Amino acid sequence: MADLSTTLCGIDLKGPVLNGSGTFDAIAARKVFGDEVVREFPFDCYVSKTITLHPRPGNPPHRLWETPSGMINSIGLPGPGLEGFLERDLDELARFGVPLVVSVMADSADGFAALLEGVVSRPEVAAVELNVSCPNVHSGLIVGEQPEETEKLMGRLRPLTDRPLIVKLTPNVAGPEAVARAAEAGGADAVSLINTIKAAAIDPDRNRTWLGAGTGGLSGPAVRPVALSQVRAVAAAVSVPVIGMGGITDGESALDFVLAGARVIAVGTENFRDPKAGIRVREGLDRALERRGFASLAEAQASTLS
Ligand SMILES: Cc1cc2nc3c(=O)[nH]c(=O)nc-3n(C[C@H](O)[C@H](O)[C@H](O)COP(=O)(O)O)c2cc1C
Repeated sequence: MADLSTTLCGIDLKGPVLNGSGTFDAIAARKVFGDEVVREFPFDCYVSKTITLHPRPGNPPHRLWETPSGMINSIGLPGPGLEGFLERDLDELARFGVPLVVSVMADSADGFAALLEGVVSRPEVAAVELNVSCPNVHSGLIVGEQPEETEKLMGRLRPLTDRPLIVKLTPNVAGPEAVARAAEAGGADAVSLINTIKAAAIDPDRNRTWLGAGTGGLSGPAVRPVALSQVRAVAAAVSVPVIGMGGITDGESALDFVLAGARVIAVGTENFRDPKAGIRVREGLDRALERRGFASLAEAQASTLS
């Protein structure tokens, strides 16, 4: 087996396979599959679903629509809020034996600051991912669509912690590299992309939008070529590590992202089809590296595409 170990922002990882935030509920998986999930955890690093300051019910139904080669979701970040997460979920998530990244989102810089301070008060949290795909309540602008807003937010958050900060980029911009550069300039330790692509579906029987919220986010293999192109552009634009995702289903597609410039990769929608997808992707990556002539993951990470 090729050496798949790597590091991300100074965190040692046994391999490069993460989960996309919100796509693998480890606590629910343990309830359904038992301790097998702990013995053979599918990921080398676990990213929590996005946590908000206050509890949220999520969006009205419908929340999912299957597309050819993907799905649209408009889940709307239901969750227990910061307090509920710290009291009930964090301990359990920290016991899966892999580094824990907590994803947070707020509609103001103060909200982000409160979330960040709450989350990093716990030593079990290896890093924090900032989901910036939400409108700012003051400006009405989506932070992650505006380089200036992103840099301003980082300016507020960076002094609050030494823990690694990962900015999750939205693909719904003309060029994510400008936002990635702004995140780096503001002190981000890594960027992750892509989040879902804005999408809609029409209810064929009722002549209205299928999703209760009107629109949602497209993910799965359908978005992979877009994700690869954006990962490649962002990796060329910044020197911080890139976490690549968007339609990864197997080891070959995972390696594509590494060759496009991702240091590590994340599996998202594929987890809904196969809860063991992370294991399959890691094993497949090993074979893909060998098939394409790489002795190790590090060798693939160091190679550049022409
Ligand atoms: C059902 C669902 C829920 C998601 N929830 C979150 C979330 O809470 N926070 C976040 O940053 N991204 C969320 N995402 C986006 C994924 O983490 C990932 O960025 C995106 O789906 C692209 O990867 P994929 O094509 O492999 O799914 C969600 C995606 C899906 C499908």
